[in-house]
Amino acid sequence: MSVKERDPVTGHITTGHEWNGIKELNTPVPKPVWAFLIGASAFAIAWTVLMPSWPGVSGYFGGLLGADQHKAVAESIVEATDAKASWTDTIVSGSYKDLLANDDAMKFVRVGGKTLFGDNCAACHGLNAQGNPGYPNIAQAPTLWGSDPETIAETIRVGINSQHPDTRVSQMLAFGRDQMLTLPQVDQVAHYVLTLSDPAKAAQMTPEALAEGKQIFADNCSSCHGDDGKGLPDSGAADLTDQFWIYGGDFDTVRATIYSGRQGHMPSWEGRLSDYQRKLLALYVLDLRSKEAQ
Ligand code: HEC
Ligand code: HEC
Repeated sequence: MSVKERDPVTGHITTGHEWNGIKELNTPVPKPVWAFLIGASAFAIAWTVLMPSWPGVSGYFGGLLGADQHKAVAESIVEATDAKASWTDTIVSGSYKDLLANDDAMKFVRVGGKTLFGDNCAACHGLNAQGNPGYPNIAQAPTLWGSDPETIAETIRVGINSQHPDTRVSQMLAFGRDQMLTLPQVDQVAHYVLTLSDPAKAAQMTPEALAEGKQIFADNCSSCHGDDGKGLPDSGAADLTDQFWIYGGDFDTVRATIYSGRQGHMPSWEGRLSDYQRKLLALYVLDLRSKEAQ
């Protein structure tokens, strides 16, 4: 039989249990801990009443507040679709000029256009439209067919050398292989072409070679590339005076272009992408170009 007694040091009653002279004090659970446990339990019970909780036979108890995550998600999807639909309408009906000046619309274009571009165009033109060998940089380089919105949209619609009946048609002739120029002439005009984008290269040529190259160019090339080599939009011929090359600007590649010719293929997107999607992409490309120009 144990006897309860008061501990002289702490003033607590002991429980009466004693082990080898060590006595157990009877210290109750502190009040704040009780308060916390009671509060937390009350809250938990109240929460199961307010929020969806107890499972039942034919469903679950929905809670007094009627909170429903399924409904919340469905509503936010409806809201997002509404917002998108309103942009779709704005983009389909707006003029390029108004849309390009509309910051909010362009914010939408940057997001929606990036995805569409990544899915359909990046394989050839690169993720940032900066081009790959054989595929032009369409974010920065001067365009082949013209840089105004309608022209770019039309290029996307019909393609270049594509299957579309209205396709843009272009061909860089095979001057060497088809024997319009002799091999030395191909070399000469290739050297001359390189001086158009890099005038320092002219200093490495003899004045005669330069003059001959220039003459071959005037006789054979300027009808498509223009007298100044900047390209003629009607022919889709590339600007040869800039730093951008579709196929490559080293001597061997330029010579190969002149020898064997080139005919790039840009697919037609009419039928594969809707009017709205093509317009979104035209705006996306125009936006990239305007940013790169700054
Ligand atoms: C199969 C490869 C390929 C795909 C995919 C492709 N393009 Fe092109 N694109 C080309 C080639 C090649 C050219 C240049 C044609 C030439 O050299 O004459 C080009 C040219 C262009 C031009 C430049 C026209 C000009 O006047 O300079 C634009 C703009 C363009 N593409 C947009 C797009 C868009 C937008 C998409 C996606 C919907 C796309 N391209 C997908 C191959 C492709
Ligand atoms: C019938 C029109 C036409 C004539 C004539 C022509 N070109 Fe071209 N050239 C083009 C076209 C179109 C392209 C773009 C081809 C493509 O992208 O597929 C091009 C592309 C090029 C390129 C490649 C540019 C790049 O960015 O890689 C070079 C170099 C070139 N031409 C040089 C010449 C030279 C030199 C001559 C004269 C000997 C010449 N061209 C005559 C139409 C022509």
